[in-house]
Formats: sequence, structure tokens, C-alpha cells
Amino acid sequence: MSSWTEGALALIIVVGLGLGLFLFTGESLGDGATGTTQAPITVDPEAAARGQTLAQEQACLNCHTTDGGAGSGPTWKGLAGSVRPLVGGEEVIADDAYLFNSIVAPSSQIVEGYEDLMPDFFADQLDETQVDDLVEYIKSLAT
Ligand code: HEC
Repeated sequence: MSSWTEGALALIIVVGLGLGLFLFTGESLGDGATGTTQAPITVDPEAAARGQTLAQEQACLNCHTTDGGAGSGPTWKGLAGSVRPLVGGEEVIADDAYLFNSIVAPSSQIVEGYEDLMPDFFADQLDETQVDDLVEYIKSLAT
């Protein structure tokens, strides 16, 4: 092999590696930017179990599914940490505070595509720990 061909080969390899690296990092940067979860969601399993019982007792599950299925309210599957489009055009991340507020003051933020149907008596009916437990249960359904 002449030294010219060796040089050309080396150049091709270097350019190829560089391009590969560029595409690879470009790809992973893209993933980060489009990801919907901010921080990893950590769930207290005991609180989530209490929340599941409450969701049944309080008839939340009459309107919300936990498996992605349709209901008169949005499904809880994949809800925590996702971007919620609201009536009026605003978009918010469904963090703990948003979920808590959605339960105690449902009419304050209405999810796009849904009616303001959710009862507003849960703030009186449930104490703060119970609402937190429901939030933990919804978070356990994030994935
Ligand atoms: C009569 C039906 C109904 C019941 C019962 C109900 N909800 Fe809802 N819920 C809705 C509807 C409709 C929406 C969407 C409109 C809105 O944002 O208020 C909603 C929205 C929500 C949201 C925000 C969802 C999102 O996609 O951002 C959460 C969280 C929630 N409900 C939790 C609960 C919990 C917890 C209970 C029980 C304690 C409950 N709901 C009971 C109908 C209901």
C-alpha cells in the first residue's frame, strides 16, 4: 500500500469516527431536550398503596383509568411528570404540586380536551395526608 493510500484511509477513518461521535451526541442531546420528566420520580410504596385504596373508596376511578384507557377524566397512566396542556393554551409539568392542586382545586386548571366535571369537595372530604397519598399513587403509575 502506498503512503498516499494509507494517509487517505486514515483520514476517512478519522472523519468517519468524528461524524459518528457527532451524530451520537446529537442524538442523546435531542433525547434529553424532548424528555417529559424533569427529575426521576421517587415513590413511597406504602403511601401509594394507601392512595390506591382511597382512589377506590372516593370513586376517583369512576372517572379516571389507571391503564391508559379513556374516561371522563384523563388517565393516570403516565400522568405524573408529563406535560399537561391546559385550556387557555398554557402547558405545565404534572409535578407533585400540580397533582395536589388538581385534586383540591380541580377547577383552577382544566386539562385541554376535558370538561370541568371533577367534584370540588375533595378538599373538604380529605385531609392533606390523604391527598398526598393519592398523589403518591398517581406517581406510582408514571411508567
Ligand atoms: C366525576 C368525575 C371525576 C371524579 C369522581 C374525579 N375526577 Fe379527577 N378529573 C376529572 C376530569 C373531567 C378532569 C379533567 C378536567 C380538569 O382538569 O379538572 C380531572 C382531572 C384530574 C387531575 C388532573 C389530570 C391531568 O391530566 O392533568 C387529577 C390529578 C385528578 N383529576 C385526580 C382525581 C382524584 C385523586 C380523584 C378522587 C379523589 C378524582 N380525580 C375524582 C373527573 C373526575
